[in-house]
Amino acid sequence: MAIMIKTPQEIEKMRRAGAATRQVLQHLASLVKPGVTTLDLDVEAERKTLELGAIPAFKGYHGYPGSVCASVNEEVVHGIPSATKVLREGDIVSLDFGLVMDGYYGDSAITVPVGEKVNPETLRLLEVTKASLDSAIRMVKVGATLGDVGAAVQEVVESDGFSVVRDFVGHGIGTQMHEDPQVPNYGRRGMGLKLREGMVIAIEPMVNAGKPGVQVLGDGWTAVTQDGSMSAHFEHTVAVTANGAVVLT
Ligand code: MF3
Ligand code: CO
Repeated sequence: MAIMIKTPQEIEKMRRAGAATRQVLQHLASLVKPGVTTLDLDVEAERKTLELGAIPAFKGYHGYPGSVCASVNEEVVHGIPSATKVLREGDIVSLDFGLVMDGYYGDSAITVPVGEKVNPETLRLLEVTKASLDSAIRMVKVGATLGDVGAAVQEVVESDGFSVVRDFVGHGIGTQMHEDPQVPNYGRRGMGLKLREGMVIAIEPMVNAGKPGVQVLGDGWTAVTQDGSMSAHFEHTVAVTANGAVVLT
């Protein structure tokens, strides 16, 4: 599939989709506390999305049953919302959410602590994963490469002793949730595709406290760390403009 270049008018629409995505995600984050189930979060994700005049992007995608992916502790991504998955004091939960508004997609993820008693090493995992995304976004400009973006993630993560998940990658995004190119969270500076004005990419580092290996559970979706270590995920939808990176979410 070709890389879809967006006009400034299209990026303006993606700005609105991105702003709505952010609103839903912030709403979900505000609800996270001990005793809440991941299904409670899913119900709110759908309600809030419809209220904003958008449609949840994940529901029905390759048969995925939820509006949000809620991945707890050693779950890396694609945790299926469930009435039996109760958030507990000391957990972390990754919330990955996407919607489509006026034909354009927004996609974003955050990992949040549940309650006040999360282990300091786990809090450091969240900080480092977020910092790796911020570092990658700082690389985004016309003429930079996807290798620059991936290397930025990898350098932050590995210098702090954590590991980058390689089984899942970021992606182009626009009138489809997943467009070309793939956006790996590892790479070498100067290598790979050059970013051009009008590209929009979702950058989404997934970082394990232990080893990088993951496996998918029997539900066909939930990816967990092979070593049982904690995992974090942050994602933004980012436009490449003549004036540099614009974070849409
Ligand atoms: N946010 C995920 C991504 O960036 C998509 C979730 S997969 C789904 O690719 F099936 F849940 F939609
Ligand atoms: Co994504």
